[in-house]
Amino acid sequence: MAGCAVNVKALRTDPAYKKLLEEQAGIVVAESEFKFGPLRPTPTTFFFEDADFLAAFAHENRMKLRGHNIVWHRQLPVWFESYVTPANAKQVLVEHIERVGGRYKGQIHSWDVVNEAVQVSDGLPGGFRNSPWQKVLGGTGLVPTYIEVAFRTARRVDPKAMLVYNDYGIEGEEEASAKKRAAVLGLLREMQNHGIPLDGLGVQSHISAVGKDGKVPMYGEGLRAMIAEARKMGLKVLVTEMDVNDRYVPAEIGARDSAVAAMYGSYLGTVLEDPAVIAVLTWGITDKYTWLNGEDSRTDGQKERPLPFDAAMQPVAAFAVEVKALEVAPLRG
Ligand code: XIL
Repeated sequence: MAGCAVNVKALRTDPAYKKLLEEQAGIVVAESEFKFGPLRPTPTTFFFEDADFLAAFAHENRMKLRGHNIVWHRQLPVWFESYVTPANAKQVLVEHIERVGGRYKGQIHSWDVVNEAVQVSDGLPGGFRNSPWQKVLGGTGLVPTYIEVAFRTARRVDPKAMLVYNDYGIEGEEEASAKKRAAVLGLLREMQNHGIPLDGLGVQSHISAVGKDGKVPMYGEGLRAMIAEARKMGLKVLVTEMDVNDRYVPAEIGARDSAVAAMYGSYLGTVLEDPAVIAVLTWGITDKYTWLNGEDSRTDGQKERPLPFDAAMQPVAAFAVEVKALEVAPLRG
């Protein structure tokens, strides 16, 4: 199953973009519109128009729809910090899930219930991120309270949705990735030990064609082992946000596209060896709307080319490589 994140504003305004999605996407996810901040202009009101728009688009086109996300440390509303306290945090979270999960009940293939809860460098036991949710509803157990509440409530509210823990920086062979991987797997194991409902691991897969050191990064043993471990725990694995930045590839477009395509090929070849991997989503479909042209982008002022279609919405080498990788992947249920 393959698809991508959608820029809902562009879906409303750019017919060529809409057409490309209709032709290519089997599963979609909103880039921002299901997140807590965008859905919650005030503590007592909800804004559903944009999320509904994508849900309707997915339904009309018989695409599967992912929910991203319920709990994250970013894109929280401005009122969060002053309004949410240890006294009301649980109630705020449960109500949020009841309203949002309830609204899309039966329509969601999988929810990223918790996103990016691990940040080893924050120094908390278990490697948990010292996030706004952790601060008000972290608790002292081996599974942060907010994670337990979020997953249990999500299951109660929409029992058919696959419930996913999603994170980044767990793909590589370097030390930091290895440590984060271990912390994430530790969390998932503890969740299972506590009977907390969990169906999948989302591996974001924001990766680089070439690293800052000028070398091609390695995605291999550690990644394979993590996926195998998740499979043995009975979990599915989803590549949820793949893109391949070309930040450190020299300016020439041919070279950049080849480096990006080569990385798509080797990465997808590696992850798709394991039948636990049931979905591949890229974070966007066309370079026209990639989120990667922000602060950390190329220093030569060129725009990034991280996705299967370029800014003119023409397929680049990475597209053919992705299609091939999906085609040759061993069959899975
Ligand atoms: C990004 C969106 O693409 C941006 O438009 C937004 O400004 C910030 O968030 N990991 C995630 C996604 O889980 O939600 C992020 O999406 C990209 C990194």
